[in-house]
Amino acid sequence: MNIQIINGPNLNLLGKRETSIYGSESFEVFFDALKKRYPEFQLHYYQSNVEGELINKLHEVGFSFDAIILNAGAYTHTSVALHDAIGGIKTPVVEVHISNVYNREEFRHKSLITSKCVGLITGFGLEGYAMAIGYFERLKSEKLKVKS
Ligand code: DQA
Repeated sequence: MNIQIINGPNLNLLGKRETSIYGSESFEVFFDALKKRYPEFQLHYYQSNVEGELINKLHEVGFSFDAIILNAGAYTHTSVALHDAIGGIKTPVVEVHISNVYNREEFRHKSLITSKCVGLITGFGLEGYAMAIGYFERLKSEKLKVKS
């Protein structure tokens, strides 16, 4: 089972950026631990600060991979193009945010992508990515399908 994690703008700075909100662990360190935790899955990681590159990645994996976990960062709140890209692919997408976007500034309360995603995980720190994998693990074991 191929699972693609995609992180959007500024998430390359995890571990250095606003650590009181996002924590002090880099994504690379977390990702290494995640791969050890879920050896039965092929986990892939991609990060870009560029909106179009995130869309290209969704197109690239969105017809062949089994699952996508997307933290679109600030583009969550602004990008009609990401909304359309998620709607245009076959692979189910789970939206993840490290912080709880609903107890932050009002402009973070609106997501343009949730309606095209299977679901939303927000506020559980980096563990949210593992929770999303846990969801796909359960689907796999039950042989369930999210999107045809
Ligand atoms: C974020 C929340 C967004 O509002 C913000 O712009 C980010 C990170 C999160 O993971 O909590 O860059 O997606």
